[in-house]
Amino acid sequence: MADTKTNLSIATLAAHAGETVTLKGWLYNKRDSGKIRFLVLRDGSGYLQCIVVKKEVDEALWETTGHVTQESTIEVTGEVRLHPKQPGVVELGVTGFRILDLCADWPITPKEHGVDFLMSQRHLWLRSSKQASTLRIRSEVESAIHDFYYTRGYVRVDSPILTPTACEGTSNLFETQYTEDEKAYLSQSGQLYAEPAAAALGKVYCFGPTFRAEKSKTRRHLREFWMVEPEVAFLEIDGLMDLAEEFIKELAGRVLDRRKDDLARLERDPTKLEATISKPFPRIAYRDAIEILKAKGFPVQFGDDLGGDEETALTEGYDTPVMVTKYPAAIKAFYMQPDPNDPEVVSCLDVLAPEGYGEIIGGSQRIHDHDLLLKRIHEHNLPVEPLQWYLDIRKYGTFPHSGFGMGLERFTAWMCGVPHLRECIPYPRMLYRIYP
Ligand code: 4AD
Ligand code: MG
Repeated sequence: MADTKTNLSIATLAAHAGETVTLKGWLYNKRDSGKIRFLVLRDGSGYLQCIVVKKEVDEALWETTGHVTQESTIEVTGEVRLHPKQPGVVELGVTGFRILDLCADWPITPKEHGVDFLMSQRHLWLRSSKQASTLRIRSEVESAIHDFYYTRGYVRVDSPILTPTACEGTSNLFETQYTEDEKAYLSQSGQLYAEPAAAALGKVYCFGPTFRAEKSKTRRHLREFWMVEPEVAFLEIDGLMDLAEEFIKELAGRVLDRRKDDLARLERDPTKLEATISKPFPRIAYRDAIEILKAKGFPVQFGDDLGGDEETALTEGYDTPVMVTKYPAAIKAFYMQPDPNDPEVVSCLDVLAPEGYGEIIGGSQRIHDHDLLLKRIHEHNLPVEPLQWYLDIRKYGTFPHSGFGMGLERFTAWMCGVPHLRECIPYPRMLYRIYP
C-alpha cells in the first residue's frame, strides 16, 4: 500500500490516482443504499465523492459514516480512483473515517429559504456551492484585474478611505467625526487621488472599497462596494473607450478560461459571455440613445438620467456590453471634460452590460483647465478649500487625462448570471442590513 498523504486538496487530487490519501473538510452531502454509502466531502477547493462499501469496512466505520451529519468536520482516508465515467474526476474508496466535530442542527436545509433568512445566515450560507462559486469567480476577477494592469506597466496607488470631501455628489455621503471639530467622509471613489498620482507615475490604478449611503434598495446598489479605477496621463476619451473594452474582454476571457466549473455550478451558460470576447462593443452617443429610447416608447428627453430600465432597453439586441458616451454635463460629475464640438455634453463613458446587468463602468476625460474646473466646482456648490489640492494638479504642469471606475460586484454579477449584487460580495452592506 502507498504511503498515506496528508495536506492535499481536492482540486489537485487527480494527480494522485492510485494513492492512499487523507483529507480534511466538511460533509456536504450523503446518500445511502443500505450496502453502499456516498459521502460528498468539500474542502473549499472542490467536492469529492467518497464511497463506503459496507462489506469492505469494519462495523465501527460503517456506524460512524451512518450518523455523520451535514457540515460536520471530518477526516477521510482512502484510495484515489479515477471516476469510471467522468474523465478528470476522481473519487475516494474509503478505508478510514473520523468525525472531528459532529454538526447538530445545521440551519440551512435543502428547503427553500427566504433571502432575509439566508442573508442573516450569510456567514454559513457562504458554504453553499453556488455562493462559493460566486466568490471564486469574484476572486478570479480580482486577480485578473491586477494582472491586466501589471502586465501593461501600471502602478497600483491606493487611495484613502477617509476623505475631507465628496467625489461623486453629496447626496449619498457617509459622514464620520474625524476629530472633535473636523468631519470626514468615507470615500465614494479613489479617482481624485489617482489623478495626481498619474502625474507622478503616468499610468496608475487604485482598487479598494468605496462607500455610498444609498437610500433605496435595488439589486444593483450596495452601500459598500469595491471599485477598480485606472487613471492615465495623456489619455483622451477615445483611448479611454479602447481601454475599457480591452479590460472587459480580458477579464471575461479569464473567467471563461479558468472558472468553467464554477460557471457550471452556477448554471451560467458560458456562450452568453463569448461574444463579449470576440465582437467589438457598440458605441452610442447619449443624444442617439435618447432617440433609440423614444422609439421604444420611453418618455425621455435630453437631460434625463438613464435608469435601470432604460439601460436594459439600450442593450437589447446586443450580446456584448454597449458603450454610451457624451451625456449632458448637467447630469454628470463636476470634473468631466466638455466635448469640444458640443459643449452641452461631456467626454464621458458608461459601459452597460448586456442581459439587464446595467452600468458596470463609469468614467470620463477630466477637465485639465484650472479655471474651468474652478467654475464647475462653484456651479456644483462644492467647497473649494478641501479641493484646493485637486485644483493644484491643473496649476503645476497640467495634462489631459482620463480614467474610469468599474464596480467589482456589478461585473461579477454579470459573469455569474446572478441578478442581485448582494451575492457577489462576501458580506453585503445594504440599507437595513449590516449583520453579520
Ligand atoms: O459611475 P460611478 O459613480 O463613477 C465614479 O465613481 C468615478 N469617480 C469613477 C472614475 O472615473 N474613476 O461609479 C463607477 C462604477 C459604476 O459603473 C458601478 O459599476 C459601480 O461603480 N457602482 C456601484 N456598485 C455597487 N453599488 C453601488 N451603489 C455603486 N455605485 C457605483
Ligand atoms: Mg455612473
